[in-house]
Amino acid sequence: MSAISSMLAIIGGTGLYQLDGLAVESRVPVADTPWGTPSDEVVIGRYGVQRVLFLARHGARHTLAPHAVNYRANLWRLQQLGAHAVLGVNSVGGIRADLPPRALALPEQIIDYTWGRAGTYSGEQGAPVRHIDFAEPYSAALRARLFAAARAAGVDLRAGGCYGCTQGPRLETAAEIARLRRDGCAMVGMTGMPEAALARELGLDYACVAVLANWAAGCDPEPHAVTLEEVQANVRAASAALGLLLAQFLQGA
Ligand code: HPA
Repeated sequence: MSAISSMLAIIGGTGLYQLDGLAVESRVPVADTPWGTPSDEVVIGRYGVQRVLFLARHGARHTLAPHAVNYRANLWRLQQLGAHAVLGVNSVGGIRADLPPRALALPEQIIDYTWGRAGTYSGEQGAPVRHIDFAEPYSAALRARLFAAARAAGVDLRAGGCYGCTQGPRLETAAEIARLRRDGCAMVGMTGMPEAALARELGLDYACVAVLANWAAGCDPEPHAVTLEEVQANVRAASAALGLLLAQFLQGA
């Protein structure tokens, strides 16, 4: 594998508020950006030989709901601190039968069902209006590296298909998930957008590592009400495999 000449940032989602195995070097306090305030401080550390930035998307104490995250400030801040590539770790519900809780998957497409989020830098604050190409929302190079790292580390990383991004913070109805399934979505989450599009606007390489936290509504073979505790427990259970994947990814970089 070729070297990642650029610095990687990881944005941790629900249940991932710090990176196991990260040797923390410093913490950069929250500071305003031209786009407002990021979710939290940025942790700078080393994972093996590679320097990494880490930011908790919902804040370290999970105080920010998906629609309240300042995605523009987060990505701006990470780029300002030197990031060239970003891995978004997002907890999701599984729609496709081979995406059960605790699995890890890499989506390759996304459909945006969110509304009202500040989703662009384009045409704002004097920035020129741009219509970025977004046909392939995730970096093919990063995805290929992640799959290679998973193979090398013996981690089961599944081809995740299409991520449907809903507004939340409530979970979906069974009918909404049936619609997403008809639309071709394999998984559903609330934070994939506008993060991916903003990363593209900034010229950052971006990929999403989806952590399966629960079955999406109506998909559970043993239906029951989903709780935040269950979601967090499943993400924690998947975090060992996630740690192996990230360590191999960074070490092989
Ligand atoms: N729906 C939307 N977002 C989610 C889910 C879900 O079932 N699980 C984790 N994030």
